[in-house]
Amino acid sequence: MAMFDTIIRGGRVSTAADTFLCDIGIRDGRIAALGTDLGEAREIIDASGKWVLPGGIDSHVHISQPSGDGIVMADDFESATRSAVIGGNTTVLPFCLQEKGKSLRAAVEAYHAKAEGQCYTDVSFHLILSDPTPQVLGQELPALVKDGYTSFKVFMTYEGLALNDRQILEVMEVARDTRALVMIHAENYDIIRFLTDKFEAEGKIAPRFHATSRPVIAEREATSRAISLAELSDVPLMVVHVSNREAMEEIRRARQRGLKIFGETCPQYLVLTENDLDGLNMEGAKYVCSPPPRDVDSQQACWEGLQQGVFSVFSSDHCPFRYDDPQGKLTPKGRTSFRWVPNGIPGVGARLPILFSEGVMKGRIDINQFVAVTATNHAKAYGLYPRKGTIAVGADADIAIWDPERRQTLTHDLLKDGSDYTPYEGLEITGWPVTTLVRGKVMVREGALEGAKGSGSYLSREISALV
Ligand code: URP
Ligand code: ZN
Ligand code: ZN
Repeated sequence: MAMFDTIIRGGRVSTAADTFLCDIGIRDGRIAALGTDLGEAREIIDASGKWVLPGGIDSHVHISQPSGDGIVMADDFESATRSAVIGGNTTVLPFCLQEKGKSLRAAVEAYHAKAEGQCYTDVSFHLILSDPTPQVLGQELPALVKDGYTSFKVFMTYEGLALNDRQILEVMEVARDTRALVMIHAENYDIIRFLTDKFEAEGKIAPRFHATSRPVIAEREATSRAISLAELSDVPLMVVHVSNREAMEEIRRARQRGLKIFGETCPQYLVLTENDLDGLNMEGAKYVCSPPPRDVDSQQACWEGLQQGVFSVFSSDHCPFRYDDPQGKLTPKGRTSFRWVPNGIPGVGARLPILFSEGVMKGRIDINQFVAVTATNHAKAYGLYPRKGTIAVGADADIAIWDPERRQTLTHDLLKDGSDYTPYEGLEITGWPVTTLVRGKVMVREGALEGAKGSGSYLSREISALV
C-alpha cells in the first residue's frame, strides 16, 4: 500500500525562513513528511528544476461585492477563485460588506450562500463595517469575531462607506476588546470631495483626474490620522493598499516608535503609474483604483517598503469591473465624469507572477521574502498560521510549484477571471506557477485547470498573530 497520497519529488523548497532540497509527502490533505527517499505514493509529482513554495494567500480581494447603482462586479466566487488558483494561490480572503441600515450577520449569511460550492481555493471572509450602530458594535461584531471573522475593514473615504473619526474610534474599541484586527482604507474624504467637485466644475472629467483628485497628501494625512487613532485606542492596525513614499514613511515611523502598525502594498503600485490613467477616450478607466497608481519614486518606495519589512503583506486588491460594459468601467449613460468610474482593478491571478518576476527574478527581493509577503505573513496576520502559509509537517498541503524559467507575456486570456481586460497586459514575466495543490489536491497541472469547482472550503479563523 502507498504510504502517501502524493509525493512532490526533487524540488527546491522555500519557506519564509529557509530554502532546502527535499521531497514532500502528502497524506489526507496535509504535509506528512519532508525528507528524501520517502518511499511509495499513489502519485509522484516530479518537481526537479522547479521551486516549491507555499500556495499564495491573497488577503485582499473583492468578489461579488454590492457596488452601487447599476454597477456589477465582474467576478463571482467561481471566476475569482479560478483565476486565483491559476495564479498560484490556494487561499483568498474577500470582504463581506455590510450595507447601510442592514445587519452584519445577514450580510455574512448571504455571502456564504454566494461562495458555497463555487470555490477553487479555500476562502475566508473579512468584514466591512459601513454602519457601526450600537447593535452592530455591541452584539453582532463581538459574536462574529467569536465565530472566526477576526478582521474587519473600515473606510475613511467613499460615499456610503466612510466612517468619521469618532466612529472609527468606536470600532477600534470593539477590536481591542475582542482582539480583532482592524484594516483601514486611508484617504482623506473631504480633500477628495473638494477636488472632485472643483475639477468637474472646470470640465476636468477624464479618468486621469481620478488620480489628481486623490493626491498623495490625501493618503498621507489619512494614514497619519489612522495611526493616531490606533495609538489612542491601543490597537494594532493594518493600513491596506499603500501607494507611495509618504504614507509608507508614516508607517515606518510608527513602527520605529514601537506601535503595531502594519502595511500592505499591491502590484498596481509597483508596475503602474498615474500616466496609465491617461489613455485615449476612456481607456484610462481601466486603471482607476484607489489610492491611484502614482509615479516612479512611489514605485521605488513601495519596493523599499517590501524589502525593509515596512509592508508585511503584498495583496492584489482584486476589485474587478469589466471595461467595455455600462455596468463596469464605461458606466451608465450620462455619467461622463471620472467620479462615476467604479474604483478597482483585477489582479488576483497576476499578483504572484508579477512579484516573482519583477521582485525575485530581478533581484529586488529574495525568494524567502517573496514567500513571507505573499503567503506566510498573510496567514499570521489573519489567523490562519501555521495551518496555512508555510511548508511544514502538519500544515495543509497548499503548494505552488514554480518554473523559474518559464517566460510569458501577461495577457488577460491567461488569467481566466470574469473581467474583459488586465491592467498588466503585455508585461513580460519570467517564472510561472505551473502546478498548484490545494489541501493536497492538484487543482492546476502544468498550467491547466484540473480541479473541480467546489473543492475550496471555507476557513474559520483564529485571532491574528499581530494582535
Ligand atoms: O479602488 C479600489 N481599491 N477598490 C477596491 C475597494 C478598496 O478600497 O479596497
Ligand atoms: Zn480600500
Ligand atoms: Zn480593496
